[in-house]
Amino acid sequence: MAQPMIIAVDGPAASGKGTIARALARHYGLPHLDTGLLYRAVAANVLREELDPAVEADAVACCDFPDSLLDDPGLRTDEVGKVASIVSAHPLVRAALLQRQKRFAQQPGGAILDGRDIGTVIAPDANAKLFVKATPRIRAQRRHSELRKAGIDVTFDRVLADIRARDDRDAKRTDAPMRQAADAALLDTSFLSIEAAVQRAIALVEARIAAK
Ligand code: DC
Repeated sequence: MAQPMIIAVDGPAASGKGTIARALARHYGLPHLDTGLLYRAVAANVLREELDPAVEADAVACCDFPDSLLDDPGLRTDEVGKVASIVSAHPLVRAALLQRQKRFAQQPGGAILDGRDIGTVIAPDANAKLFVKATPRIRAQRRHSELRKAGIDVTFDRVLADIRARDDRDAKRTDAPMRQAADAALLDTSFLSIEAAVQRAIALVEARIAAK
């Protein structure tokens, strides 16, 4: 049997990493896990129980949830994303979610995971690693137009400030901060269409696999 292929896709919010990871999963026929959803599930539980996301013990108490929760569209709101970023800074929350992600990565045929620490912590031996980025202004424009389409009235400046705050928190935490792994290929989607970004991602993965 061919070697299992593990692809790690990391990057900040609204960089395009989720869209790229889903397209790669379709292209290679591999299962895909959006690991941000795990932190979002913890955040949603914290909000529902009216606990304090900044208190590690409160967040840890919310780490036990069924996979079915990951399909809840309520996890995708900006408020849940912000609280997810807060709970994800707690080492004990990261520890509680670690094995679930490692198990997903180790399934027999391989897998694609996207997040912030896939190439550095969850799957350091991945066959191919991508770090997807775009300028904060461009990511804020994407998010702003999505929110406007969904009928949510919010200013561009508010969205940009939220994106910068989230980047800061995710990159500055001490445990598994968001960063490009030394052996990850950088993909800047700032001036690429979705189709062009996906084609570039496939080309980068192919180049990585051929080089091994
Ligand atoms: O990708 P996302 O916006 O759904 O992620 C929500 C938050 O979860 C993000 O701001 C930080 C955290 N996260 C993380 O710490 N590690 C991951 N592998 C994925 C997400």
